[in-house]
Amino acid sequence: MTPVSREEASALDHKDPLAHYKTQFDLPDGVIYLDGNSLGPPPKAALARLQSVGETEWRGGLITSWNDAGWIDLPKACGAKIARLIGASEDEVIVADSVSVNIFKLAAALCAKAPGAIAYHTDEFPTDGYILQGLSSLTGAPLIRLAADAGHGALHSDISVLVKSVVHYKTAAVADIAAWETAAAEANVAIVWDLSHATGVLDMGMHAAGARYGVGCGYKYLNGGPGAPAFIYGERQAATTLNQPLSGWMGHAAPFDFAPDYAPAAGVERFACGTPPILSLSALDAALDIFADLDIAAVEAKAKMLGDLFLARIAPLGLESISPPPSERRGGHVSVRFEHGYEVVQALIAHGVIGDFRQPDLMRFGFSPLFLGYGDVWDAASMLASILETEEWRAAKYSARRKVT
Ligand SMILES: Cc1ncc(COP(=O)(O)O)c(C=O)c1O
Repeated sequence: MTPVSREEASALDHKDPLAHYKTQFDLPDGVIYLDGNSLGPPPKAALARLQSVGETEWRGGLITSWNDAGWIDLPKACGAKIARLIGASEDEVIVADSVSVNIFKLAAALCAKAPGAIAYHTDEFPTDGYILQGLSSLTGAPLIRLAADAGHGALHSDISVLVKSVVHYKTAAVADIAAWETAAAEANVAIVWDLSHATGVLDMGMHAAGARYGVGCGYKYLNGGPGAPAFIYGERQAATTLNQPLSGWMGHAAPFDFAPDYAPAAGVERFACGTPPILSLSALDAALDIFADLDIAAVEAKAKMLGDLFLARIAPLGLESISPPPSERRGGHVSVRFEHGYEVVQALIAHGVIGDFRQPDLMRFGFSPLFLGYGDVWDAASMLASILETEEWRAAKYSARRKVT
């Protein structure tokens, strides 16, 4: 039941089985952080790990730490932890590079195996389309831009690869993975799922839904830190049939044989490329431990309730929500339209309520359930109401556009 008073919201926090996870994060006092869907806050364990990697492993162990501290195995170790969250087997996920680079590797490998067009929806996160545009000009593969609302009926046998988000970065609409995969199997299309806005907040069950390929980032709900490395999911059998184009030594079956010719490692491990970024990987590895005992379905359920509460609280403000309503499944965030959304978000930030803005007029608020409570969401909505009512956002200082919105 959605709380209808601040007291009810606090009461829900008191009996929330996930409430204690907040103590594992190092958040500044007085901040309500509604942007964990863009950059997760630092887990205390990740900060401590960065310190010890620097002091003990790098400074103390020097190069011996590649073996002694297990650095060389971190991409696989982190992959195994992420696999559990997305519903894959431990050896089907590897951490490497960025989402953009991983889309390139997977889409190029799939296209080389089964030549045809590469497709994406025009309203996808831009980098997904940019990468496919680059791949198309490199290989000559036709590019198909599907309308934002094109359903799986749009899949046809001329398409080799479709890149598609599970949770849309603006609306938070959730794709029906199983339905898309069924249609894709009939049309012989391979889908590369972008799991960036879904991993760590949505119960996806990639295997169970028949999904074979995916990419996602480490810096949003996984709280791995700014620019944390991304991951690739490749179903075991399927990944073994792919030749990835960035055939670097870390994806070689035996990198330290220093053999003259490339031979791919088994399964998804072949999608590694160069030397892994150990500082970032270590932070991600520690951050992932927070999820060790978590039931991801419970995480999704709480995110949904927080988002529903926010939508209910701001309903009287008359803002148009572009996100799925409470009756539908939704990712962890909510976006609402307001012509001066940029200024309002800046005013909110000045009051310690941090969300973000997406062109042209969207205020986006994320509800990471591991460090936010119902009381926080109640207070954030009150602050939004106050800023709109007083028109505080009109102050000139809030209109200066910064590079990152
Ligand atoms: C859905 C989605 N895909 C891709 C990216 C960017 O990926 P990267 O910068 O790791 O290449 C983002 C970043 O926010 C995103 O939301």
